[in-house]
Amino acid sequence: MSWRNVIYKVFVVALAVLPIGVAAGENTLSSPSGRLKLVVDVTGEGQPCYSLSLDGNAVIERSLLGLQGKQGDFTTGFSMGEVATASHDGTWEPVWGEYATVRDHYNELAVTFVQPDDGGLTMTVRFRLFDDGLGFRYELPEQEPVNYLTLMDEATEFNLAADNTLYCMPGDYDTDEYLYATTPLSQVAGALAGYRGRHSESQAIDRLTVQTPLMMKSPDDGVYVNIHEAALVDYPAMSLDVDTASLGLSAHLTPDRNGVAAYLQLPFNTPWRTVVVADNACDILASQLIYNLNEPCKIEDTSWIKPQKFVGVWWEMFIGKQRTWAYSDYYKAKPGITDYTKLTPNGRHAANTENVKRYIDFAAENGIDGVLVEGWNQGWEDWASYVKNRQFLFDKPYPDFDVDGLQQYAAERGVRLIMHHETGANAADYERQLDRAFQFMVDHGYNSVKTGYVGAIIPRSEHHSSQWMVNHFLHVVKRAADYRIMVDSHEAVRPTGLCRTYPNWLAQESARGGEFESMGGNPPEHTTILPFTRLMGGPMDYTPGLFETRLSYYGEGKTGQALTTLARQLALYLTMPSPLQMACDLPENYRRFADAFQFIKDVPVDWSDSRYLEAEPGDYITVARRDKHSDDWYVGGITDENARTAEVDFSFLPEGVDYVATIYADGKDAHYIDNPQSYSITTKKKINSKTRLKQYIAPGGGFAMRLVPKK
Ligand code: NOJ
Ligand code: CA
Repeated sequence: MSWRNVIYKVFVVALAVLPIGVAAGENTLSSPSGRLKLVVDVTGEGQPCYSLSLDGNAVIERSLLGLQGKQGDFTTGFSMGEVATASHDGTWEPVWGEYATVRDHYNELAVTFVQPDDGGLTMTVRFRLFDDGLGFRYELPEQEPVNYLTLMDEATEFNLAADNTLYCMPGDYDTDEYLYATTPLSQVAGALAGYRGRHSESQAIDRLTVQTPLMMKSPDDGVYVNIHEAALVDYPAMSLDVDTASLGLSAHLTPDRNGVAAYLQLPFNTPWRTVVVADNACDILASQLIYNLNEPCKIEDTSWIKPQKFVGVWWEMFIGKQRTWAYSDYYKAKPGITDYTKLTPNGRHAANTENVKRYIDFAAENGIDGVLVEGWNQGWEDWASYVKNRQFLFDKPYPDFDVDGLQQYAAERGVRLIMHHETGANAADYERQLDRAFQFMVDHGYNSVKTGYVGAIIPRSEHHSSQWMVNHFLHVVKRAADYRIMVDSHEAVRPTGLCRTYPNWLAQESARGGEFESMGGNPPEHTTILPFTRLMGGPMDYTPGLFETRLSYYGEGKTGQALTTLARQLALYLTMPSPLQMACDLPENYRRFADAFQFIKDVPVDWSDSRYLEAEPGDYITVARRDKHSDDWYVGGITDENARTAEVDFSFLPEGVDYVATIYADGKDAHYIDNPQSYSITTKKKINSKTRLKQYIAPGGGFAMRLVPKK
């Protein structure tokens, strides 16, 4: 055990001892460094409230706390009862991630609020103050007369001290597949006006609401703040209502269609509300606060959980090659299929045995772990249906998909097939089929599944981010663990760090991913914002690796292009860390650019250390990471639509060791619209901890480096 581990090894000072940072007689708490300070009190009406400051400057002004239920009002009439304090300094080792070891270091204040009247209610708010921010949650004990609570609303406020710049998307109970608006809080109404009603299946929220993770920056660029939640279990996801006059944000829970937010059985602890705070954007990206607030891993034997790269029968359905998920065009004639054996093949079905073999061969040749196959199972002919109760069958392959033959073909080549379960958002029917579906996977050698929830949720009273669906997504992950299956969920509720507890939840989509490069494109700034927002809660299956960016390349009439240079696509493997990374393009495109593809073959998906070197939301990110299984380091950088020169300071390298660097960079004439495929690959023979390098990045571009210690 290293000295660092010895010093950090779990060190808990509980209750009686006054921990460092808690002032006697006051309800205040300091972070371990002393820079963040929390004050907790009650208003004249007995409303619990808190405020937060950094170096003496307010970050969150006095803001209300509380919960409102049908059986009890936990927002007012309180006085402060018992105040318990604790400190913790320990480390834990994630199964996979950006760091081999994570430090969990905080001071804690648990304030119990009591209503003094007869039949009064009790509620504890537990605050944890880390050097990089605050987490707090409500703890409701079972009490007379309330042993369950029909929760209607949460009173939590985050009143900002300044007119911060927001990187935000509109509130929506069903999708987070939006681009971000960058706007002062006071102007957010105008900035989000054009977004309304963008998603046909989603219910637009008619209040001025934004989603979390919400990234913000103070007007003087001095303070970066991120608001989200941790450990979202048995509770609806939180969005934030915006009050532009008072600069206030307040919790907005996704209701079911009865207007109920949650049905809680007491005792109950809510998810943590998180406020990550830093005076440097890099520290927001490096923060592990949300993971620290999640429970330790609940899966005892994790040896079967494997970070991995994959290719897939996927992109060819997006690019206008007329390739289909469905086996036939039956839906054009008559919806409601009963006998799939009578379908007439359309000749364009991508998930056919021969085509899948091509991908398996390619994966085997290039050391890629997995092959995803979409459209292998019955149901795609009229799947986007809200008008019937069964769409997909998860144990019934189409006639041209030889599930047994492919199992053998893949196994012989050391490749794993990745299952696809598009549910069409029919979560109810998926639960009914789940055990059969997972058993079918196990019987056919699959150990990873990509799930999908496109469309409006069934049961028809629910939303993608409501309590019922939050429970559904976690149920699938837990049940998958029983079958030793890893999960990549698309269109699932935005993640809140639960992959610490259930590390078989390798990745999620839950944001506007690479697929949109075929539908108007993702402007370059999008991927400079995602790490500050969506990725705060967990890794994203963004599907990078797009080399052929022009859709006209495929003929057949599709126009438009991806908004990226080729070199930037390599950088995304570093700036968008995930234990599950797709190489999304077609094998033939990788063969055309085999020298650049070498980087995708080499880049790891699991890290022992990460250093954010430069970052600004919406502008640029430069990051260095160390491979978990070797001494190699990797450095990646991206910019927005503006060219920039990254300054790479290699002082993170161990002293006295020289590295050979392979650098994949934009060509001098590269441009994400006009000249995306201009790139260079160069070698630098001697990079060490004293090296400082200026690296040009083209508009919409990026660079990626591999550093191998010199023998
Ligand atoms: C949307 C997912 O994000 C995408 O990856 C998938 O191919 C389609 N749904 C079809 O399931
Ligand atoms: Ca999607």
